[in-house]
Amino acid sequence: MSLLTFTLLILALGVLMLLLAVVVYFLVSAITTVPWVRTKPKMTRSMLQLARFSPGDRVLDLGCGDGSIVLEAVAMGGEGIGVERLVLLVWYARFRAWQKGFGSRAKFYQGDLFATPIPKAEIVVCYLFPEVNERLEPRLREALSPGTRVVSRDFEFPTLRWVESQSCKRSVIHVYEI
Ligand SMILES: C[S@@+](CC[C@H](N)C(=O)[O-])C[C@H]1O[C@@H](n2cnc3c(N)ncnc32)[C@H](O)[C@@H]1O
Repeated sequence: MSLLTFTLLILALGVLMLLLAVVVYFLVSAITTVPWVRTKPKMTRSMLQLARFSPGDRVLDLGCGDGSIVLEAVAMGGEGIGVERLVLLVWYARFRAWQKGFGSRAKFYQGDLFATPIPKAEIVVCYLFPEVNERLEPRLREALSPGTRVVSRDFEFPTLRWVESQSCKRSVIHVYEI
């Protein structure tokens, strides 16, 4: 075996190991918390419209994944902030925002929702699990101003002030107000 073949083999093995590590990283995090599932732009637009989004509004996505909702909010003329615990997704979200030239209109923070301060926003978006929503409610009440709209995809908040719910494809969008 030539030195070149050997080097290429080692490189290919390295890439394979890296891919495997990424897959294991996502699998482990999916088992221990809400898995990452991306909300598509059309669904995001329906969610924001139902929450009475206006250009200039600040949209906060709690558990923002790869930043899709934040980026769509900025594309619609708003500002976006995302909080996400998985660092790889935060890096990817920042890269996507940089690619789109969104500058400081899209911000992403790495951290746990229960250990990170919740910034003020006109609209807060959640696509989490019911038990996470339930734990999150007191924090939202404490951190957000009256009138803030909270939009949740699929899962309800047990005691937030409910405004309306609407079916969208195979999902249900729930809107609440603080
Ligand atoms: C179903 S995905 C939704 C992603 C994004 N909001 C969207 O709709 O495209 C839920 C995300 O919340 C993140 N997440 C779950 N629990 C979290 C926590 N305690 N702190 C921060 N992020 C969390 C997960 O890592 C995952 O990326």
